[in-house]
Amino acid sequence: MKKITEKAYAKINLLLDILSKRPDGFHDLRMIMQTIELHDLVTVERGTGDGVVLTCSDPTLPTGENNLAVQAARAFLSATGVPCDGISIHIEKCIPSQAGMAGGSSDAAAVLRALWALYDEPCHKKELERIGETVGSDVPYCVRGGTVLAEGRGEILTNLPAMNPCSVVVCKPDFDISTPELFGRVRVARILHHPDTVNMIKCIEEQGLSRICTCVENVFETFLAEEQKTKIEDIKKELLTAGALCAQMTGSGPAVFGLFDDCKSAERGASKLKKLYSQVFLTNMV
Ligand code: C5P
Repeated sequence: MKKITEKAYAKINLLLDILSKRPDGFHDLRMIMQTIELHDLVTVERGTGDGVVLTCSDPTLPTGENNLAVQAARAFLSATGVPCDGISIHIEKCIPSQAGMAGGSSDAAAVLRALWALYDEPCHKKELERIGETVGSDVPYCVRGGTVLAEGRGEILTNLPAMNPCSVVVCKPDFDISTPELFGRVRVARILHHPDTVNMIKCIEEQGLSRICTCVENVFETFLAEEQKTKIEDIKKELLTAGALCAQMTGSGPAVFGLFDDCKSAERGASKLKKLYSQVFLTNMV
């Protein structure tokens, strides 16, 4: 086998809490992550004889050493010691970038999974999460996927029961948020209300979507600039008016998701938002 195409799924944060700033500059987090069907397609080929080469369907994205997919390939080669006989990566991009949906991390994770298979499983599969950790905080989760509690920097993972599938509408407004910049605005002492992670986990175990929806929360929303906050609130209002059981920003934003227990309302919500925003996706939980 010389070539593999992997689905690189996007994620949403059902819950995101920031606990403390660490001496290493990172923050200790507590997040409940959920994989959604929206995905990029990552094709990896080995034996191309020419280092690590990345191409991407989106010409605005960097394809050099600062792309996480290239960094993942380098981290894989260095951790496993397999000889590089030329790796070519192509990404067909669908997940919006700088949206809080782990698009770049998910592509990196897909590269790790593909290389692991292409190089005949040179390490234990669990090792891929550890290699992913050296590439980015969200990469270990993206290697694993599903419904997961992520703690520490994001690399300490505990599987939760899979959520019952439901319709998800995601809308990315027309501005980007840089994750390091938003983390830079965080002052943990200013977080007056921390999400109830224990209760959220209980609701997930009991599989009640409407109860889960009462627990969704993302403390990053506290630290948005006023103008950003207004734009996020506008999308939330549209989603809730369309019948979403909850609406919330995902990760460091600015994409906003709504969860629906009925696909007709989700379709109506998505088509209404499409009249106002260029990046709207009607998708499902995986
Ligand atoms: O790990 P990653 O490279 O994705 O992180 C990007 C930036 O986000 C870090 O440089 C750091 O500023 C911030 N970050 C953080 N705490 C985390 C994860 C990321 O402060 N747990």
